Order: sequence, then C-alpha cells, then structure tokens
Amino acid sequence: MPKLRKAVFPVAGFGSRFLPVTKASPKEMMPVVDKPLIQYALEEAAAAGITDMIFVTGRHKRAIEDHFDKAYELETELERRGKEALLEQVRSVLPEGVRCIYIRQPEPLGLGHAVLCAQPVVGNDPFAVVLADDLMDSQPGAMSRMAQIFEKEACSLLGVEEVPRDQTESYGIVTVERMQGDSARIHSIVEKPKPAKAPSNLAVIGRYVLTPRVFELLAAVTPGAGGEIQLTDAISALLAEERVLAVRLPGRRFDCGSKLGYLQAMVELGVRHPEVGAAFARYLDSR
Ligand code: G1P
Repeated sequence: MPKLRKAVFPVAGFGSRFLPVTKASPKEMMPVVDKPLIQYALEEAAAAGITDMIFVTGRHKRAIEDHFDKAYELETELERRGKEALLEQVRSVLPEGVRCIYIRQPEPLGLGHAVLCAQPVVGNDPFAVVLADDLMDSQPGAMSRMAQIFEKEACSLLGVEEVPRDQTESYGIVTVERMQGDSARIHSIVEKPKPAKAPSNLAVIGRYVLTPRVFELLAAVTPGAGGEIQLTDAISALLAEERVLAVRLPGRRFDCGSKLGYLQAMVELGVRHPEVGAAFARYLDSR
C-alpha cells in the first residue's frame, strides 16, 4: 500500500448554522483566535506527512484559495515596513513541501459526492478526508496518529468518539468489535440514526483514511440521509469487502460546526495563546 500523501478537504458547504456570518465568507475561514479553521486542519494534515492538499470547493470560497496563496502586495508592504515577524507569519501559512489543489463541486449534493469529486486527483492512492469543522486539539495531531496506524494496518480508518445518546442524529454511528488499544474493527455504520434506532453511541468524527476502492462504491451510492450522497453509505458497502478500523483519536475535539463548540475552542485556545493567553485568562477569571 502506498504511503498516505493526499488529503481531501470538503469545503463547499453553505455553513448555514453560522448565518449571517457565512453569507458571503466561507465557514472554514472563521478564526479561532487568529487562525482560520481550515489552517488548523491543513497544519494537522501536513504534520502527518501529507503533501497534497485537495480542496473540494464551491462558489464563494475564493478566500480559501487566497489564504494559502502568495500575497504579493501584503508581503511587499510588510517587507518595506520592516515587519519581519508578521512577514514570516504570512509566509508560513502554507507549510514547506505542501501543495494545494482546488476542485469545484458544482452542487452541494452531500459529503460523499464532494469526496467523489476528488477522484481524478487522488487516483488509485489511499487518502485522508479532513473536515475542518472538527478542530482536533492534540499534540501530536490526530491525523499523525491515523497515519501511524495506517502505515501498520494498511486499511481504511475512521476517527471515532463516544457522543451523548441524544446526539446520534448528527453523526455517522458505528458498531465495533472489541477495542484493542485505541482501535477496533468496524461491523456496521449508519448515517445520522435517531437516538432510539442508533446501534451505539460511537460517532464518526471528521477524520478518515480511505482506500481508493471507496470511489467506485461512491459512484454507485444513491441519495441517503437528508437526500444527500453520503460517504457513510459507501463506507458501509466497503465494510463488506475490506477491513475498516475505528480509531479513538487523542486529545480533545471541538465541534466548530456548532456555535457552542466554536466558542469553547475560542476560549481554550485563547487562554493558551502566547500573545494574549495570560491576559485573556485573567479576564475570564475576573468576570
Ligand atoms: C458528516 C458525516 C458524518 C460524520 C460527521 C462528523 O456529517 O456525514 O457521518 O459523523 O460529518 O463531523 P455532517 O457534520 O457534515 O452533517
């Protein structure tokens, strides 16, 4: 099995849970302190040795492309003013050795459809899928752990976490064999079951490593939960053919697709920020 070198970032969604802020700007560009969500996701993938960052974008997402591009005017101006530290920050947005590739998803037909749009670039290689909504706070990163397991097991992997029963309707839910360390073989997967029908409370979170076979299965998937082409349904078909492991990821996940999770991420990363952390923590204590 080739090494894990490619990651797909589905970023074509409307971000309707964050309207009006997402009316004209992508939700993936929402900042946690001073970095947009998509940059945390890309840095996590780069730290795992991934070099090809494949964004599946849509209309109104140009800010993402600009963010990872060279900013000539800004860099020239910062250079002229001798602002070395800021210049370095701007230049290091894209880690060394990493390249970005952009593909358009013409219509928001679902996560599975977005992933399928990346097939011409991913080809016959294994690949990661990273959902920037899920901000993973751990050192080393969640994707590094997945890359490590992939190297050993050479099979598809899904990041998982236990969620409260009443939240199963927001996630893909899996059933697994006995956990061995932090991973277990997956028996079944179902997209967004109602709590009463959920086979467990083990939820898939936004980190996947998939074998390219999933593309062929995706091409045959018909609209599922919410009328969308679901990645979960292709993975369900994959289970009949290949071993797929659930991996409990290290660290803490912030669900930045929800306002509460986003605010929690802001507070936790805010109090650790090298520039404002201590003052912010004092402020929180004093109020
Ligand atoms: C998607 C997947 C779901 C997964 C979730 C993780 O749902 O379809 O299986 O559990 O991401 O964040 P979405 O959040 O896009 O509705």
